[in-house]
Amino acid sequence: MKETLNRIKAEALEAIASPETDDAALEALRIKYLGKKGELTAVLRGMGQLSPEERPVVGQIANEVRAEIESAITEKKATLASEALDAKLISEKLDVTVPGKKTKVGHRHPLTLVQRDMEDIFIGMGFSIAEGPEVEYDYYNFQALNIPENHPARDTQDTFYITDKILLRSQTSPVQARTMEVQKPPIRIISPGRVYRSDAMDATHSPLFHQMEGLVVDKGITMGDLKGMLETFAKTEFGEDTKVRFRPHHFPFTEPSAEVDISCFMCGGKGCRLCKGEGWIEILGAGMVHPNVLRNCGIDPEEYSGFAFGMGVERIAMLKYHVGDIRHFYDNDVRFIEQF
Ligand code: PHE
Repeated sequence: MKETLNRIKAEALEAIASPETDDAALEALRIKYLGKKGELTAVLRGMGQLSPEERPVVGQIANEVRAEIESAITEKKATLASEALDAKLISEKLDVTVPGKKTKVGHRHPLTLVQRDMEDIFIGMGFSIAEGPEVEYDYYNFQALNIPENHPARDTQDTFYITDKILLRSQTSPVQARTMEVQKPPIRIISPGRVYRSDAMDATHSPLFHQMEGLVVDKGITMGDLKGMLETFAKTEFGEDTKVRFRPHHFPFTEPSAEVDISCFMCGGKGCRLCKGEGWIEILGAGMVHPNVLRNCGIDPEEYSGFAFGMGVERIAMLKYHVGDIRHFYDNDVRFIEQF
């Protein structure tokens, strides 16, 4: 029996130590030698046939063999685990010398750049920014602005209707009425945002574009204030030498009304391709807020007066960056966008 035990021990230890033995094989060996039906267990079962003198001696040897096999298994397990970790560390090693991948960083769209520029100029003159909804009531887009139903001015601003009373705003001017309804003078706001018109797309028209409205209401506001303020804007946006010209015009919500030109910043007024030989470029519509509009919004025209103006953001951007076709702004071809 002793020989059997020694043979089992020698065999087991050799098998455990073998470099071929992995985790699964090790578990198989544990069952083979130490399991309930294992070889060592079988020997221990047969101890009943031994004489009472031999029994404790063989028992002790058997226990020692079991302990040795157990500790050999434990050690092997630890070795396998640390080898596995080493292999993992090697396979997952980071090569910090590999050149990095460049992530593309975007930047602002040219229309956003121009709008922010314009906002900065007006904020510098004490204006704050007011916002209004793009889905607007007919009332604010037209009626409050002195454009009743069937007024011919509606034809020039045909838009998209949601119902007969709700539409996509055709101008940022409804923000004038919304602001005056809730804010008492002094009022000094600009309102940039999207507007819609049912125009076919071509080089200078788009059914969606951007405007920036301006409104100042206070005691004693005159057309001189409007002109001075627009001059400051034009000089800051287009250069110190820029001159401003008012041409009489008609808007239902301003009286008097004007279309405002700036001297061409390309040729200085001599006439060139940009200004089509005129020397002047139209940039916006403006005027003194019509007394009816003030009254519609609960402001007494005897006590207060104001001016308003509205300009197209795309138009300013096209002039500033010499963009010949409005569609470039919406195509979002990166070869175009990247130039700004
Ligand atoms: N809302 C006018 C337009 O879209 C522009 C404008 C604004 C004119 C404010 C006068 C005063 O044409």
